[in-house]
This record gives sequence, C-alpha cells and structure tokens, in this order.
Amino acid sequence: MADMDWSALGFDYTPTDCNVRYTFSGGKWSAMEVTSDEYIRMHMSASCLHYGIELFEGLKAFRGKDGKVRLFRVADNACRLRSSAERLCLPLPTMEMIVDGCMEVVRRNEKFIPPYGTGASLYLRPVMFGTTAGLGVKPANDALLIIYASPVGAYFKEGIKPIKVALDREQDRAAPRGTGDVKVGGNYAASIYSSKNAHDLGYSNVLYLDAKTHTKIEEFGAANFFGIKDNKYVTPKSPSVLPSITNMSLRQLAADIGMTVEERDVPLEELSTFEEVGACGTAAVISPVSKIFDMQTDKIYQYGEEVGPVSMKLYNLLQDIQYGRVEDKHGWCTVVL
Ligand code: PLP
Ligand code: COI
Repeated sequence: MADMDWSALGFDYTPTDCNVRYTFSGGKWSAMEVTSDEYIRMHMSASCLHYGIELFEGLKAFRGKDGKVRLFRVADNACRLRSSAERLCLPLPTMEMIVDGCMEVVRRNEKFIPPYGTGASLYLRPVMFGTTAGLGVKPANDALLIIYASPVGAYFKEGIKPIKVALDREQDRAAPRGTGDVKVGGNYAASIYSSKNAHDLGYSNVLYLDAKTHTKIEEFGAANFFGIKDNKYVTPKSPSVLPSITNMSLRQLAADIGMTVEERDVPLEELSTFEEVGACGTAAVISPVSKIFDMQTDKIYQYGEEVGPVSMKLYNLLQDIQYGRVEDKHGWCTVVL
C-alpha cells in the first residue's frame, strides 16, 4: 500500500482484499464465508431488488497512536442491525455472527487500515438483503448478510471545516411511524431527491423537519443534529430519527465534561438561538454547520465560519478514544489487532 495517499481519501469505495458473508436459507444461517468476490448473484425477482427489503450499517476501525487497531462500538451497531432486520421481517443474525464478521474483515484487510495520523480510518459496511424470488409483497425467507470494508477519509470534503446545509420543508425523510428509526435503504432512497436539489444549490446535506407538523428539527440525511448553547448539548428526540451511535457517545462525553444534555423536541425557531450547530455520525464524525439555508423561505441561519469550541472539544474527546490516545473508560472500543 506504499503508493496509497491516505490523507487524500474521501468517503468513497476503495476495494480491499476480501469480504465476509453469511447466507440464510432453509431456515438456517450458513457458517461465515470469506471471499474476494465483490459481486453477488441473485434472482432478478429477489425481494430486496423490488421491495427494498434491504438494510445496512456503518462503523469504523481506527489504527491508534499505540499501533493497535480499535473497532468502535461494534456491539451497538450489531444491535441496531438486528432491529433493522426485525423491522423488515428478515431473519435475525446473532450478535456473535455480526461482531465476529466485523472482526474478521478488519483482520483480513489489515493492510487497508490507514496509518495513524492520516485522519483516515477503515469503514465497515455490513449490508443485508432479502433474496427470496417472488412477486408478492411478503417477508423474505432467504437472506444474505455481507460485511465489507473500505478505507475512507472525511464524509464531507470540508472535514472538520464547517459545512453549509439546506433545510427542506417540502420533502420528508421518514414518517413518524415509518422506518426512520432503523437503517434501511428505503430511507436513503426517499432522501435522494431533496439531497440532489440541495447539492445543486451548493449545500452539502439536507436538514429535515418532522413529517407530521413540520415545526420541529429531525436530522440530516446522513447524520443526527445537535445544537450547543448555554453549556447545553441539545438533540432532537423523535420516533423517526435514527438512533445514532455517535450522538449517543457525544451525549455521554458532553455529560462527562459537565454539560447538560437535552434530548427533546427542538422547534424550528430554536435554530436562531444556538451558539454552535453540528451534524454527527460515523461517516461525518462531527461536521460543524456554518449556515442553514431554508430552501422555501430563503431564511438563513448563520453560525461560525470556523468550528466552535464545544464542537471541537467533543470531536477531540471522541477521537482521543477512537485513536487510543486516552483510556477508553466507557469500554467503547474492541481491540482487534
Ligand atoms: N442519521 C442518519 C440518517 C444516518 O444515516 C446516520 C449514519 O449512520 C446517522 C444518523 C448517524 O448514526 P451513527 O452515529 O450510528 O453512524
Ligand atoms: C454512516 O455514517 O455510517 C452512514 O451510514 C451515513 C451515510 C454514508 C449513509
């Protein structure tokens, strides 16, 4: 990997040596299969292809300052994968299958784990498909779970530099009793139209409102929302927001440094009262927001042009744990290598 420019990596797919797979058929899961094949073969009538019976996860492995490789909160991602599978009536892989599969992928692709200090990491993408062939809309009896890896840099090309986002009142990401709280492909398909509109206007991501009243902040298309004011970490509580593992970690870290953590309704008007606003997620880590542009009213909410002190502090606290620079006192990391 001597010719790899790790620092130049964006959030894109780079092939690695192998991926792992489990197949569910005849009522049982296969043993783990390791393959270098990047393709899958399935029936043209497979349920994932027609009815979106598909889910995924995203987590990262970091090469630490001490040379060790740490997987961040893998059990939490495994748990969320299982809740997505349950929601789509897919067969449930065990926690052990998911965690072992993630560890195996990291070990076998060791040479693709970016060196410490490059700001890059190894992104793991578990993805699961309903593969039963048929025409009726019904649960899949067959499934495929793949876990693959790709070295990645920052999700937003700005990195820790603030991003500009667009607020879309006319498109919803997820309905209150829909699938917003699980990580299924359909949520992302639903967001692609408004995301394209925002990109065309020069914005990096879309901020959505609640789909029922359109008066409360929900989340971004690929990350949770947080706002900082008066030593408070404020984040929306909603049945249609994805329970972000990064957000959960930031809430803990904010509490650790004596901030008040509020998980509650966040009315749209409150946007103008925050000192700092950020997007958080595995891919995004923390992306500070400098501007929110309301696409329908043209109203602009402006924050700092540089990352704010609290966002920076939380970012460092999180990355210190992920890169093994401090004691992992919450037990979030699994040392793989
Ligand atoms: N919200 C959405 C819609 C996402 O796609 C993601 C990414 O995974 C997140 C939030 C952040 O979740 P996590 O921190 O678990 O990666
Ligand atoms: C992640 O942060 O892991 C995501 O899945 C976000 C996005 C790439 C969909």
